[in-house]
Amino acid sequence: MKDIAPSKDELDPIEIASIDEIRALQLKRLKWSLQHAYDNVPYYRIRFGSVGLRPDSLESLEDLAKFPYTTKEDLRRNYPFGMFAVPREKIARIHASSGTTGQPTVVGYTRNDLSVWGDIVARSLRASGLRPGDLLHNAYGYGLFTGGLGIHLGADVLGLATVPISGGMTQRQVRLIEDFRPKGITITPSYILSILDEYQVQGIDPRNSSLEVGIFGAEPWTNKMRLAIEDAFDMHAVDIYGLSEVMGPGVANECVETKDGLHIWEDHFFPEIINPETGDVLPDGEYGELVFTSLSKEAFPIIRYRTRDLSRLLPGTARMMRRMEKVTGRSDDMIILRGVNVFPSQIEEQLLTVAGLAPHFQITVTRPHSMDEMNILTEASINAADDISRKKAQEELIYKIKSNIGVSVTVEVVDPGGVKRSQGKAIRIVDHRP
Ligand code: DLL
Repeated sequence: MKDIAPSKDELDPIEIASIDEIRALQLKRLKWSLQHAYDNVPYYRIRFGSVGLRPDSLESLEDLAKFPYTTKEDLRRNYPFGMFAVPREKIARIHASSGTTGQPTVVGYTRNDLSVWGDIVARSLRASGLRPGDLLHNAYGYGLFTGGLGIHLGADVLGLATVPISGGMTQRQVRLIEDFRPKGITITPSYILSILDEYQVQGIDPRNSSLEVGIFGAEPWTNKMRLAIEDAFDMHAVDIYGLSEVMGPGVANECVETKDGLHIWEDHFFPEIINPETGDVLPDGEYGELVFTSLSKEAFPIIRYRTRDLSRLLPGTARMMRRMEKVTGRSDDMIILRGVNVFPSQIEEQLLTVAGLAPHFQITVTRPHSMDEMNILTEASINAADDISRKKAQEELIYKIKSNIGVSVTVEVVDPGGVKRSQGKAIRIVDHRP
């Protein structure tokens, strides 16, 4: 893999600013953001008031801990535009979360918000190793989902040439990668696996493709998966994180030179980690739920938003701004099996160590009697699809999950191609519990 990292003089000045400078900027912007939310969104005025706070109750960054959290339910209650802090006419773009778990959450952007979003996505793409003039194959879905259009916006700002292919039509994805020879690809980690299958079907070696970097996000994926993808395509694989409620893709991104967690673009988003049960703020380094406060957003300021994503904060490395560790999973996706917490990412990790299994899986949770049970549907890799290899792989996966995660599961190994493929975010859990 080539060294494609940007040099220091290509970075935004704030990326190489000192911690003191970053904290000073954050405090100034946080005061503005609280005031803006309070003045323009009735929800925040009422919530702050209910605990006897006003924006000027905040004198330091630590004071933020006094302010109430905002949850997905709060946003839903204000559907569709109740959380907007500017008149409708000032809104330049609307996006919405997929709404797979209920009513969609609607978010809005002013012209200025779009400009900031473009800048931080450009910063993310640059941190991933892309530079002006490079060609980008953007396979995140275009539409209400922030992935496709958010990446596109940043690619325009950075000066890339974007192929706005969106998700789906996998044969054509391979065809265009081969014909157009992009340097980068932006895509979910589960969908790149479908593209990898298609390479195999077409008999083309993906290691010979033009791709030098893949920028993967929108769903959890493990470091084991990173190594598998890097090996399959002979390209760098970096992580991009974001959520519609906070902005979209580009809230945090890994640097290609370190790949050691995602640098949060702290000049625009203030992160906290909290204990999801008690709501207490935890010190950096401890695991918990990520909470974000926007520092510059005009249309949709968000104060202490509980993401339900589990991670921890770490000091900066390639950049001064803090990192978040790769997200382990969402608290909603945690399955409690006889007292043991299990995330799909832990299953992925074990699955990738079993020779003879393809990296596709889906978890079914049932409760036939009083206790939850978990079945993992996965498939044999093409060169190990015979009965003996399958049985061996099945037993090995059951054993590894039992010894490394501590839970007993059943595993079903189906024919190659037997697990439904993703074209965007994979559905990892099918819940059949009453
Ligand atoms: O998924 C934004 C995005 C698009 C991020 C493209 C990266 C790339 P939502 O649809 O609102 O926005 O979903 C946000 O997806 O709370 C996480 O649970 C999950 N997620 C996003 N990025 C990552 C990641 C977009 N890198 C929700 N690792 C978030 C793990 C991620 N989970």
